[in-house]
Amino acid sequence: MSEAALLNRTLAIEVCRVTEAAALAAYRLAGRGDEKAADQAAVDAMRKAFDKLDIDGTVVIGEGERDEAPMLFIGEKVGTGRGPKVDIALDPLEGTTLTAKHMPGAMAVVALAVGGTLLHAPDTYMDKIAIGPGYPEGVVDLDADAADNVIALAKAKGCRVDQITACILDRPRHSHIIASVRKTGAAVRLITDGDVAGVIDCSEPGTGIDIYIGQGGAPEGVLAAAALRCIGGQMQGRLVFKTDDERARAERIGLKDLTKKYVTTELASGDVIFASTGVTTGSMLNGVLEIGDHLTTETVVMRSATGTVRWIKTRHPRPAG
Ligand code: FBP
Repeated sequence: MSEAALLNRTLAIEVCRVTEAAALAAYRLAGRGDEKAADQAAVDAMRKAFDKLDIDGTVVIGEGERDEAPMLFIGEKVGTGRGPKVDIALDPLEGTTLTAKHMPGAMAVVALAVGGTLLHAPDTYMDKIAIGPGYPEGVVDLDADAADNVIALAKAKGCRVDQITACILDRPRHSHIIASVRKTGAAVRLITDGDVAGVIDCSEPGTGIDIYIGQGGAPEGVLAAAALRCIGGQMQGRLVFKTDDERARAERIGLKDLTKKYVTTELASGDVIFASTGVTTGSMLNGVLEIGDHLTTETVVMRSATGTVRWIKTRHPRPAG
């Protein structure tokens, strides 16, 4: 069976139930100031929804190692076992703080891929750079200065540098990148959290984002790369290790070269489906909306085999109680 057939069209629709369930569960705790509870609700709901999905799935990027995460841990088998054999990267709640504070941009995220094709990224940081589609390979480089990257991108885009906008996580560790980009005349859009969307926004027309630069979660890096495999764009990432324990984790996962610079097709090399449902409204998706006696969700589902991108709006009866 071909890879494209393996990750079939029906699955691309069915998978939205998994992210919808997580988003609805997290939304119930939006604005309650409890990140852990919101995350747990999303994990529980996503785990339960997987039970009804006809896949023979293995979590390769999940909530942590088996001894620290009772559910959706790395290596856990999910699905009915009756469908295609797939590897799964997931983040039931991307934006735990955003949800706890009822701020924009929280979402539930999943990527399903042909076995062995997603980088088994440990739960460490990753240095990342991403741009949208249509540029020559390597026009920007993770190892180049942020200012040089912005200037190179403007040249490739055929615009002035002050017409470029870089998306960067608002963290003290990024102050030198922010200063360097601003010095070129380019604009910086700071986000407080949620760099999966930050990377995807580079490839989505109308977001106003041209480039993403900075250090965020490695699992989020693989999820974002999976989306770029579907919609186009370039990303580079390198794992960042702050402790020996983190290095040991990576080695246990089987990573050999811990200094490697990965490109998009090394982060997610095979056929992939990416799905995300909004919890709170952000740049990519509307969040859960309460309308009368029902709730609506908005989900985006992308498929690398065809490059199709679907937005699925669903009305759910409000749960009793
Ligand atoms: P969580 O939902 O796990 O809190 O992740 C949110 C996030 O902003 C990610 O999008 C990003 O990759 C990471 O946290 C950045 O980490 P940090 O908050 O430690 O800078």
